[in-house]
Amino acid sequence: MKSNVKPAEGKLGILLPGLGAVATTLIAGVEAVKKGISQPIGSVTQMGTIRLGKRTENRRPKIKDFVPLADLNDIVFGGWDLFEDNVYEAAINAGVLEESLLNKVRGPLEAIKPMKAAFDHNYAKNLTGTYVKEGTRFELAQQVMDDIKNFQAANNCDRVVLVWCGSTEVYFEPSDVHSTLAKFEEGLKNDDKLIAPSMIYAYAALKLGVGFANGAPNLTVDIPALIELAKITQTPIAGKDFKTGQTLMKTILAPGLAARALGVHGWFSTNILGNRDGLVLDDPDNFKTKEVSKLGVLEDILRPEDNPELYGEIFHKIRINYYPPHGDNKESWDNIDIFGWLGYKMQIKINFLCRDSILAAPIALDLALFIDMAKRANMSGVQEWLSFYLKSPQTAPGLQAENDIFKQLIKLENTLRHLMGEDLITHLGLDYYEDLVEDVIS
Ligand SMILES: NC(=O)c1ccc[n+]([C@@H]2O[C@H](COP(=O)([O-])OP(=O)(O)OC[C@H]3O[C@@H](n4cnc5c(N)ncnc54)[C@H](O)[C@@H]3O)[C@@H](O)[C@H]2O)c1
Repeated sequence: MKSNVKPAEGKLGILLPGLGAVATTLIAGVEAVKKGISQPIGSVTQMGTIRLGKRTENRRPKIKDFVPLADLNDIVFGGWDLFEDNVYEAAINAGVLEESLLNKVRGPLEAIKPMKAAFDHNYAKNLTGTYVKEGTRFELAQQVMDDIKNFQAANNCDRVVLVWCGSTEVYFEPSDVHSTLAKFEEGLKNDDKLIAPSMIYAYAALKLGVGFANGAPNLTVDIPALIELAKITQTPIAGKDFKTGQTLMKTILAPGLAARALGVHGWFSTNILGNRDGLVLDDPDNFKTKEVSKLGVLEDILRPEDNPELYGEIFHKIRINYYPPHGDNKESWDNIDIFGWLGYKMQIKINFLCRDSILAAPIALDLALFIDMAKRANMSGVQEWLSFYLKSPQTAPGLQAENDIFKQLIKLENTLRHLMGEDLITHLGLDYYEDLVEDVIS
């Protein structure tokens, strides 16, 4: 089978609703890599390799040399925010990257000025901004569509993708207005307050056939109405919530415990962080969205219903505390109560001094590049193979998410092999030994 992914010709516009810590770290990072100052560490598309064929073939190209991804030199960034700061100023405020590094890429960062946000204070009560669009939700969606089209024309982009890097919105369950595209469009016209700002961006993108990934835990594209629209306009979508920090560690460690049939009684996770994300999450309604996104992970990996002796009693608790002195340098503690042979108890303690946006920026880059590639490969709707990057992966209705990061990686790699007409790898490996037996006999 030959690949039928169209080549990545011309420029790719990456548009980011929310030019805060993650977005500015991404943009500054890509500029630094382009200048040869830094390496894109943590980006699987840029640094990761993929095995092809049998182990004896020794084929292990870099992923970016295997699948047709946009080159970093062909990317143009843009975005929206409710603060008017350009990306250089926003990056300084975010306090993730050192000023000395930012000064080396100051020119291109200063050139990126946000477009006015489609915002509703009720969805992030700890934020107040004046740099916002006016109008009903329907009018806001039209304005965002104009922004996308104008950006594409002004920057001579062949293709555009959107990655939501905006604040976490308050928690709510999907309701009638989200259930079909017709009801959603009616809701836009009626300025229905149940349509969140992130959904307005997503609707505008999908309407134009522009792929959309969601880095926050809000529902956004994870509603039937927008899944329907993605199918109609043949557009790929992915969400939710960049898998960084504590949840990244959880999805690395929990599969290992489950693999060795070790029991887990309890998992207590607490964090302190002091960036704007932390401020927004200080509101209980916004925290609830994050909590739901983080809580599902362990249950999906350990599956207490299949193995009640080992995981039936698990007590899982998550806390996030806003602590300004730490800025973006989140610190997390996990206490894991496990038990082994004959029920004997043990404990694991993790103290992860992480840098949230340093872990999130490469994920945002990879999602943008893969969503763009998916569009060129005629893949539309939910891209479950991108779960690898997400805390709360979006799946087909009724399908339980796969949160084990190793299974997610196998799925991602096999999807790439499939797209490029390479054999899928099952890791069975019996054939190596059959060949050996035949050699000995002959
Ligand atoms: N940093 C991480 O490691 C990480 C990990 C997982 C998920 N996330 C999520 O990614 C998002 C961004 O994180 P961050 O650390 O960059 O936060 P941040 O607070 O630094 O940046 C978010 C930006 O979005 C803007 N914004 C809010 N609503 C908007 C709207 N409707 N339109 C346009 N702009 C809007 C805010 O003004 C802010 O500048 C958050 O939702 C966060 O929960 C971050």
